[in-house]
Amino acid sequence: MNLSIIGPGNVGLSLGKAFAAKGQPVLFGANDPAKYEAAVASVTGAQLATVAQAIEASDIVILAVPYAAAVDIAASRADWGGRILVDLTNPLAPGLAGLTIGTTTSGAEEIAKRARNARLVKAFNTTGVENMLNPHYAAGNVMMPVAGDDADARSKVIALATLLGLDAFDFGPLAGARFLEPLAMTWIYMAFKLGRGRDFGFGLLARR
Ligand SMILES: NC(=O)c1ccc[n+]([C@@H]2O[C@H](COP(=O)([O-])OP(=O)(O)OC[C@H]3O[C@@H](n4cnc5c(N)ncnc54)[C@H](OP(=O)(O)O)[C@@H]3O)[C@@H](O)[C@H]2O)c1
Repeated sequence: MNLSIIGPGNVGLSLGKAFAAKGQPVLFGANDPAKYEAAVASVTGAQLATVAQAIEASDIVILAVPYAAAVDIAASRADWGGRILVDLTNPLAPGLAGLTIGTTTSGAEEIAKRARNARLVKAFNTTGVENMLNPHYAAGNVMMPVAGDDADARSKVIALATLLGLDAFDFGPLAGARFLEPLAMTWIYMAFKLGRGRDFGFGLLARR
């Protein structure tokens, strides 16, 4: 599986390291690859290219950029050729004051509208990056809901989340992102506004 991550920032590099540790190599796409040469060199087996080159070379593309940039990247191609496009962004208001989109649509659905012939999947947005690197707690693993309209695309992203040790949960169609983005905001609110810090995650308690 050819996997690229657009945006070798905080989340992109961390996810790249987590995938590399599990034997899944990553190709990073950056606006200015030279800026990220040293950072990407720290990720085992990773390669670096322009955004367009990375997308072209990949079956699965993770957008690890701010929400507005994800919208622009989605719209930048005439045809995504059926690629799986993973949206981990949250449409955050300045100062983490809340979400700028919601209830009747979601950031993911807005990206999907612009990503012609892509199979959009929402995932990796509901928890902090530390939990993607290490999702294991004494009580269990951090839950990772995965939403998307294409069942095959959803199952491939569920497999990626599971590879990282996350407790992947099939969240059904993409419209479920209307609930996942507020769930991310709940984590952000607890972590930063209520001062809980970043060392916690949401898990699923299931009665046997
Ligand atoms: N931090 C978390 O724990 C967390 C958890 C879940 C989801 N998220 C989401 O993850 C996304 C990334 O967050 P982050 O903390 O990794 O931010 P970050 O450290 O600022 O990294 C953002 C990356 O996106 C790149 N970028 C920005 N605009 C771009 C464009 N138009 N085209 C290509 N690349 C572009 C930046 O490159 P340049 O520097 O060259 O602009 C940078 O590499 C956000 O949407 C955030 O909401 C974050």
